[in-house]
Amino acid sequence: MRVVRTAPIAAAIVVLIGALRFGGAVDDTVLPGIPSPGAGTEWALPAVTLLANLLGVLTAGLTVTAAFLLPGDGGSVAARGWWLLRRTTWLALLWALASATLIVLTVSDVLAVPAGQLSRQAVVSFASDISQGQALLLQTGLALAVAVLSRGGTSRGPAAVTALLATTAIVPPAFTGHAAGAGNHQIAVTSLAVHVVAASLWTGGLAGLLLVRRHRRFADTAGRYSRLALGCFVATAVSGVANAAVRLGDWGALWNSRYGVLVAVKVLALLTVGLIGAVHRRRAVWAESFVRLAAGELVVLGAAIGLAVGLSRTPTPVAEDVAVPDPLVELLGFTPPGAPTAVRMVGDLLPDFFFVAAVAVGIGVYLAGVRRMRRAGHDWPVSRTLSWIGGLLVLGAFTLLGVAKYAYVLFSVHMVQHMVLSMVVPILLVGGAPVTLALRTLRRPADPQVRGAREWLLVILHSRVVRLLGHPLVALGIYVVSLYGLYLGNLLATLMRYHLGHLAMLVHFVLAGYLLFWVLIGVDPGRRRVHPAMLTVVHFLAMVAHAFFGFVLLQSTTVIAAGWYTSVHPAWASSLLADQRLGAGLAWAFGELPAVVIMLLLVRQWIRSDEREQARLDRAADRAEASGDEDDLARYNTFLAQASARTGKS
Ligand code: HEM
Repeated sequence: MRVVRTAPIAAAIVVLIGALRFGGAVDDTVLPGIPSPGAGTEWALPAVTLLANLLGVLTAGLTVTAAFLLPGDGGSVAARGWWLLRRTTWLALLWALASATLIVLTVSDVLAVPAGQLSRQAVVSFASDISQGQALLLQTGLALAVAVLSRGGTSRGPAAVTALLATTAIVPPAFTGHAAGAGNHQIAVTSLAVHVVAASLWTGGLAGLLLVRRHRRFADTAGRYSRLALGCFVATAVSGVANAAVRLGDWGALWNSRYGVLVAVKVLALLTVGLIGAVHRRRAVWAESFVRLAAGELVVLGAAIGLAVGLSRTPTPVAEDVAVPDPLVELLGFTPPGAPTAVRMVGDLLPDFFFVAAVAVGIGVYLAGVRRMRRAGHDWPVSRTLSWIGGLLVLGAFTLLGVAKYAYVLFSVHMVQHMVLSMVVPILLVGGAPVTLALRTLRRPADPQVRGAREWLLVILHSRVVRLLGHPLVALGIYVVSLYGLYLGNLLATLMRYHLGHLAMLVHFVLAGYLLFWVLIGVDPGRRRVHPAMLTVVHFLAMVAHAFFGFVLLQSTTVIAAGWYTSVHPAWASSLLADQRLGAGLAWAFGELPAVVIMLLLVRQWIRSDEREQARLDRAADRAEASGDEDDLARYNTFLAQASARTGKS
């Protein structure tokens, strides 16, 4: 077993050294003239990066195994899962230490000053003001939080939170480094984030599986890991290829550049592991050969991680071609669009890995669910399917077509994008009733101790957080505060500047809208039973808040997010204030149509609920008449008559 533990790490180290030498990251002749921080930092930086990556992989993999892969024990994780969580504490602490060390080494690399000669001031301002430093600081904090949470008892809920936090902690550095510095960073950055998460869960999950191989229900655990690994394999391959395509620029660079050759070796590594995985699936996974096969797979995965770190330090072909990078292209991540025309608004595409994947996976998974319903002989309304697909296609149109590029440089187009993402898309998605579909089609595990996707969905639906979020006033509060906070609280400029911030903003528009419209008109389970009259009032308040926001913006003489819009202002555009007023007018006018549709739906709900109540009373009256008892109305009249008789006597 010791060989199984050390061989993947040894493979990662050996391959890293080879990749650093081959790629030229530790060779001053490859990039002559660029100041060097000294051999200490040149070697220590990739070595500690590899250490941090491996610790992240193990922390995420072991927590996911404990929380999601092993069968539980009632509301608690299995004893072996608890044991895994305890081991994670030390891994997470070391991970935090490695990430903190990376802050110092990265400053040394950036300033080309040996680590020992750096001032404390330089390190502190790097960690607080520069995105690379902030990402590493965030990772350090998250890893520490995982270390604390991993001691948080045996309940499955906290274990799941620990696993999700550990997985999230892998992401921040992906949003800086090579990918973020490139043009086309809408593809590079998100694909790298998906890539590292998928590769880490795949590798870490396998390590977790090896550690629980003597568990009595190992076969079930291995089956669940196998499904996870298949998903991770596809995600790693697709995201890796997308990322490499941006870095390489053209096919020739795959064999003409050192970076390209290293990418080709990674493809080979992926295919090798895929092959081993396929053999695993064909044979019974708990067979004798499991440890040998899994160990072989881990060695190749470890080597791929070592290679990845070497790759991230190797100069990329695309950057080498560009002698003087255009600061505007660097800021936006794409070449700024020309004066708007209908053709450009549609055809000047902005490929963004996140939204392409969200739309494709969203449609694919939903259609698979509908097919499963039909196969089981149940109907699923076509209107719901059309509503869901329509919502995702509108989401794709406003985040991937030319209009998405204009939304970066013109406030008015950004406002239209905001309105569509927070109203039209959520209304259509809510109409698709995805939770109902999921609950009807996700299979129940044969073993009641196993929590599959369906069981986790039910836990989430019944959780206190969802109950709180599902309160109409809370949903309204989130919707309105986001609207005012973003623009009047001056958050917009900051979010526009960072790819992660921009992405989070767009996702938040959809989620905040989804929450509000789910509460108002949703058919999915989990929402509170609230009288439609109350919902109508909530919706009316949302409309008023929306109209007032448009009015305030229209009257404003201050340019919102001036820092951002000044730096990207196109020469062909009208003044910033004129464009902002156009945006305010559009926001005002735009909200009206969806608002009227929702109001009509609510009034219909209200009338139907009154009709249902009347029908219930009529049925009760009929039953009472048939049995000779008094019905509710007769009882109420008797009560009133007795009360007035008592009052008369007194
Ligand atoms: C089709 C196969 C693959 C391709 C095309 C590919 C491509 C890439 C590319 C282009 C990067 C970005 C490097 C940079 O910043 O310049 C990357 C990073 C990375 N890859 Fe892969 N990869 C593949 C398979 C794998 C596999 C099998 C693993 C391991 C399980 C892996 C793990 C990683 C990790 C951990 C990083 C982040 C490294 C860092 O920034 O520290 N990749 N990959």
